[in-house]
Amino acid sequence: MTDAPVFDDLLVEDREFPPDPVFAAQANVRDPAIYARARANPVAFWEEQARELEWFAPWSRAFEWTPPHCRWFLGGKINITHNCLDRHLAGPRRNKAALIWEGEPGGVRTMTYLQLHREVCKFANVLRSLGVVRGDRVAIYLPMVPEAAVAMLACARIGAIHSVVFGGFSAESLSDRINDSECKVVITADGGWRRGTIVPLKSETDKALESCPSVNHVIVVKRSPGEPFPCQIREGRDHWYHRLMEGPAARAKCPAEPMDAEDVLYILYTSGTTGKPKGIVHTTGGYAVSVHATTKWVFDIKEDDIYWCSADVGWVTGHSYVVYGPLMCGATVLMYEGAPNHPGNDRFWQIIDDHRVTIFYTAPTAIRAFMKWGHQHPAKHDLSSLRLLGTVGEPINPEAWMWYHEHIGRGRCPIVDTWWQTETGAIMISGLPGLTTMKPGHAGVPIPGIEATVLDEQGNEVKEGSGLLAITHPWPSMLRTIWGDDERFVKTYLSKWDAKTYFPGDGAKRDDRGNFMILGRVDDVLNVAGHRIGTMEVESALVDHELVAEAAVVGRRHDIKGQAIVAFVTLKGRAKMTDSLRDDLKQHVATKIGAIARPEDIIFTADLPKTRSGKIMRRLLRDIAEGRALGDTTTLADASVVEALRESYEEKYGG
Ligand code: WT7
Repeated sequence: MTDAPVFDDLLVEDREFPPDPVFAAQANVRDPAIYARARANPVAFWEEQARELEWFAPWSRAFEWTPPHCRWFLGGKINITHNCLDRHLAGPRRNKAALIWEGEPGGVRTMTYLQLHREVCKFANVLRSLGVVRGDRVAIYLPMVPEAAVAMLACARIGAIHSVVFGGFSAESLSDRINDSECKVVITADGGWRRGTIVPLKSETDKALESCPSVNHVIVVKRSPGEPFPCQIREGRDHWYHRLMEGPAARAKCPAEPMDAEDVLYILYTSGTTGKPKGIVHTTGGYAVSVHATTKWVFDIKEDDIYWCSADVGWVTGHSYVVYGPLMCGATVLMYEGAPNHPGNDRFWQIIDDHRVTIFYTAPTAIRAFMKWGHQHPAKHDLSSLRLLGTVGEPINPEAWMWYHEHIGRGRCPIVDTWWQTETGAIMISGLPGLTTMKPGHAGVPIPGIEATVLDEQGNEVKEGSGLLAITHPWPSMLRTIWGDDERFVKTYLSKWDAKTYFPGDGAKRDDRGNFMILGRVDDVLNVAGHRIGTMEVESALVDHELVAEAAVVGRRHDIKGQAIVAFVTLKGRAKMTDSLRDDLKQHVATKIGAIARPEDIIFTADLPKTRSGKIMRRLLRDIAEGRALGDTTTLADASVVEALRESYEEKYGG
């Protein structure tokens, strides 16, 4: 028996927010006929979108599909950085701010399109001088500083494949990722600011590199003017970014390499149900097309917008909607380095007020934290510049949606609830702000050119009630594979029903107008603060501890983070179940994976509930962790295990 999906399927939502006519009249997408036009011929529709970008050579075939593999714009030559930068230099946009950056301790840096172009070209030449060639992998482990965008774009400029690793991940996570794709170069920083303290990225990198034979060079960005943060520079291997950029290699001329549409643009690792993170592979042409079109449609980007997406570049949102999408659209991107509650709980509202931000895109977990801190914080600020709000990362509870609408949007701003994944590369389901009647908790309908439905386990369409979300036709920014593991790619995404239907791993239901409500993950993947964490990763980190025999990890509903991690652990031999061991284990996970994966609770148990075939029944553990009545226990090998476990859990947590 498989674990049944756990959904909160009882939510009925009837509040509706039709588009404001004034907004609708100026929107980038005004004509609802776009949906029918896309459906009539999706490939021709995407070709039309592709023509909005500049190509060095046209494609000869728009689409090829030999399931499970799709290819888009075959034979086309393009460079995404030409579309992000060079294309904007021909007219007055060259002198417009491309990036406005604010550091956590304060300090603002602004780079025009011309300046960003120059910086990217120089750094691309620097990378070449260190031996980086087309197809090489480069790891980027940086705080949210402008150099993170520069590094990504410089790689893309010369056809090197970037692999950005979130700065909150540990040395071990970094080395796993570096080794999986054999990166040659790592770009990091002496440190970055987060909630008033310095995150020592270079020291973590040094630890990681003890086991990374492929890395020849490390480039270190000095975060602040003056003395660097304490860190070691190893002669020969390590180079300061600013020195290289002053050196002879950093020539300002660097024509964009004409890339094949299907050349790999980047790898980005994400969690799955097994221990090893998956290196999601995105290629160049199709990715550029989907990301450009969705940025324009969903965020309604205009020439004078100041657009702020609060995601870190370490996540896919930071790739598609901090760097590539808005820059392809020629927007002004605001980038902020630090925490939302430093120095005060109103930091984000201060930033919006100071920079006159017009479009703001964030995650439900942040919105719930803002709700908890109270609306007096946004109330102190002038948020009248805002005209559009967005959310992404997990289902947004209708109450959080309403709070966002009222206290941030002040009742004036449409909210786009955007469903997508690292694997999809771009937004897949979302309202379009000039067309869609928004409903709290509903992501809306698939964007034009995307075909999605709800299926049951057998692949029958579910018209009413909940089922599994499915995408029935490939789209341009679809992941092409998992780096080095085509088999896992097929197994994870394209074999649930057949080789033609993509399985995202989410539950969904539709209302009578076809609006999708996303109900959360149906596999064992956790969603903590909008980020996917594989149960197996955390379990492996626990079992790595010398006193742990076995571990099972589940998510428990959490008011702010969406889910909190609860670990059930059995110990070896005579190890004592003490509070200090509990703390040790939590720290062990944080050290192995990163603070984001630190379990909130560790429950010691003599046994774990298993099926007769030895499979851990996480569904029952979830019931226990959430204090629910236990579901079907008849398939357990030993039913007393779970009763004992529940009793000890209730003793500790009061049920
Ligand atoms: C998973 C993907 C895409 C960028 C951020 C996360 C969940 C994402 C929504 C939404 C409900 C959402 C899904 C999805 N998710 N957006 N608007 N409503 N759920 O990227 O780490 O690849 O996670 O996030 O469960 O599968 P990711």
